[in-house]
Amino acid sequence: MSILLLNGSPRLNGNTKKTLTLMARTILENTDNTAEIIDVAYKTVKGCAACDLCKTNGGKCIHKDDTNKIMEKLAAADTIIFGTPVYFWGMSAQLKALVDKFYSNKESLYNKKIGLIIMGAAPLDTPQYRLIKEQFECIAEYLKWEIIFVESQSVREPGAVLDRPEFVEKIKNICKNL
Ligand SMILES: Cc1cc2nc3c(=O)[nH]c(=O)nc-3n(C[C@H](O)[C@H](O)[C@H](O)COP(=O)(O)O)c2cc1C
Repeated sequence: MSILLLNGSPRLNGNTKKTLTLMARTILENTDNTAEIIDVAYKTVKGCAACDLCKTNGGKCIHKDDTNKIMEKLAAADTIIFGTPVYFWGMSAQLKALVDKFYSNKESLYNKKIGLIIMGAAPLDTPQYRLIKEQFECIAEYLKWEIIFVESQSVREPGAVLDRPEFVEKIKNICKNL
């Protein structure tokens, strides 16, 4: 099974990236699955132009950026793990720009298994984590996805989430059982 991990944080030493790196390593060391991380914030993905040209040219985005290359990788993956910091109650703009590009060839993304990692600073009982989860649940229904896990953490210091043994153990267990 091939697993693609999308890092929506621009912080390469941040909580999202550190968690996804731990996940990729655990997957590669403990399963026969493949795992690849894409740092979405360091790719060029322009916002959807709503030109609809993708509807008449075989599902390709007309932008000369990284959209089509990433879409091909997403289409080939069995499982997609989205990781995002909370930015103003939502996923990061960098990740959202890519999600909007799913419009270009949504059928190619049908029937995936999905994991979601959300890193915020506010307490876990505030609305942002629920809002992001619900947004992904809506997308999942639209794209016939099965959400297999959602893990949120409230953490301020970049990378500090890996100092939480219970979280690390939980993440490793999820990955060993993918
Ligand atoms: C632009 C920006 C907006 C943010 N907005 C929120 C927010 O609305 N709610 C929240 O809980 N944290 C917010 N944060 C804090 C980050 O979500 C938090 O520090 C998170 O752990 C960062 O993850 P990272 O280290 O993977 O980048 C914001 C941070 C930035 C830079």
